[in-house]
Parts: sequence; structure tokens; C-alpha cells
Amino acid sequence: MTSYKIALIPGDGIGSAVIDATWEVLTKAASGAGFALDGTSFPWSCDFYEETGAMMPADGIETLRGFDAILLGAVGWPKRVPDSVSLHGLLLPIRKAFVQYANIRPHRLLPGVEGPLRAGAFDILCIRENTEGEYAGAGGRVHNGTADEVAVETSIFTRKGVERILRFGFEQARKRRGKLASVTKSNAQKYSMVFWDEITAKLAADYPDVEVANYHIDAMAARMVMAPESLDVVVASNLFGDILTDLGAAIQGGLGYAASANINPERDAPSMFEPVHGSAPDIAHLGIANPIAAIWSGAMMLEHLGQAQAAAAVMGAIETATGRGIGTKPGEHKTTEITAAILAALN
Ligand code: IPM
Ligand code: MN
Repeated sequence: MTSYKIALIPGDGIGSAVIDATWEVLTKAASGAGFALDGTSFPWSCDFYEETGAMMPADGIETLRGFDAILLGAVGWPKRVPDSVSLHGLLLPIRKAFVQYANIRPHRLLPGVEGPLRAGAFDILCIRENTEGEYAGAGGRVHNGTADEVAVETSIFTRKGVERILRFGFEQARKRRGKLASVTKSNAQKYSMVFWDEITAKLAADYPDVEVANYHIDAMAARMVMAPESLDVVVASNLFGDILTDLGAAIQGGLGYAASANINPERDAPSMFEPVHGSAPDIAHLGIANPIAAIWSGAMMLEHLGQAQAAAAVMGAIETATGRGIGTKPGEHKTTEITAAILAALN
């Protein structure tokens, strides 16, 4: 029987509750489809940091390299460990080390979920650059603590990095409704963003079947609210994509529905799947975290592993549950109730 080695990193806060729920659903889907998921759980988190002084062991990345995929809950507990330490000690190094340059985030309304907008239906696939740009980590501070203190943080855009994410976006558009929106701010940022626009125009010649439109980030934010149904694939830099995908989460009803896949398209290292919502320390022990974002991310993992039928079964089960009104309103159902409804729909 085909078996996949999955690294589980529940992480912090609601991370463990949503990963437990996801694992129940995925293993059931796997046995129904005739393959196995072999999970190994790692306790890397802010707890781990408090015990050991690091978010993961020094050889953590090398340990993860041996897995077929990584399923991650959430990282961060800012009251205990500064976010700049926890995220740069676990989540961000994984994205970079495994060249997971395409962060894919689907935004659409599930059946039964009411979003805040007039639009009744939309289906946006945000593709966020995930390894460089504004998150490059290049910078420093001088004259610390004095009136002359200076902080610089330089965005890094490489031809290789921009080309590969745009090409990925064009390929996705080709598989969907043939529309690509490339997001920059080239009216204000005249080096990196003009560079991005030029590469978009150059690649467009290779994809005559894809309709390309260029938007500035501010205009795209407005469009996602006013006319989300007009969008198909949206490609943006690391920070712009980060911001737009919280907006995407909001229009799809909230962060409880926002799934993501950090993909290494070349498949020379594992990809990582995680809900967008984060650790939510304020509700961590209430048992009311919505597991749908994590389970949907798990469905994306099955799809990436080549198990499209099982992935579709999981998505179908999520939609059956929400169609019955389970998990459609914040706090109305417990994590366990939503999970049970999805498991039941998987039969
Ligand atoms: C996300 C998160 C992370 C990001 C944070 C936690 C560093 O907001 O995955 O969207 O900015 O990438
Ligand atoms: Mn974010």
C-alpha cells in the first residue's frame, strides 16, 4: 500500500486542536481511498523554546527534509516569545529552506457560509511569493537606542524569484478560468515593482491564452471587496500577498476558512500545509477553534501528494457539513462537533 510520511507540527495555541481534527479526517480519507498516512509529530513551538532556548533543534530542517509533506498548525505566542523570534525560528526558515516559493491561498465562500459582502459567489486563488521580497530578512539597525537610531529592511527581488512565481501564477490561471492579476505598486516603488511589471509583460508572451491585468495593491484591495467575482488568479509579492490573503480570508467569512499551501513546485524538498489563522492564544483552550481552514489545507496536501480523489472527498465532506450549517458561524459549534460532522460526511 502506498504510504506517505507526514511531519506534524501542531505548534502553538489552537494549532494542536486543529491539527488533531485534520489528522482524524485525513487518515479516514486515506483509508477510504486505499493509501496510508504515516505521521510523526514534533513538539516545536513556544513551549519548546521555553524549554530549550530554540523553536526547533539545530538539525530540525534536516529532520523535516526526509518527509513527503509537513502539516503545521500555528506558530506564535507573543506574550511569551516575541513573534520576531518564534516566526524566524520555525515557520519562516522552513518556507525558505525548502524553497516553498509558491504560497497558494484559495478564497471562496463555502456553502452555508455568509461573507460580509454583497457578492454571493467568487473564486479567487491568491499566489503569494514566499521566499524573498519584503521578507528577505536583509537589514539592520545602527546607533541602537540613541536619537540617531536607524533601521533599514531591504526588500530583495531577484529575476529568478519573480519569474518563477509569475510563471507559477500563469500556469494556475491556465488550469482555471484563464485570468491572471499581477499586483504591484509600481507607481510608487520604481525599482522592484517596475521590475516585477516588466517580467509579467515578458512572460505574458508565453501565455497568449491567459488574460493578464496589472493592479496596484491599493486598487486590488478595493477590488477584492467591490468586485471579487471579477478575479481569478492573483499573484503578489510576499508582504502584499500576506495582506491581501487576510482580506481574502475576511471576504470568505473569516480566518476560520482560510487554507494555505506552501509549495515547492520542483518537489526537491517537502511542501508545507497550514491554515492562515495563526495560534489565536485568546481562544486556545476554549475548544471552539474552527478546524475547517486546517482540514482544507490538509485536502490541499492530499492533492499535492497525488491523491486528488481523497482530496475531493475531504472538500466534499467540508461542504456537506457547512451546507448543513455546521461550522458556519464563529463559536456556534465546538471544534469536536465540526470535526464529527465532517467525518460523518466522509462516509
Ligand atoms: C501568514 C502569517 C505569517 C506571514 C506570519 C505569522 C509571519 O501572517 O502565514 O500569513 O506573514 O507569512
Ligand atoms: Mn498573514
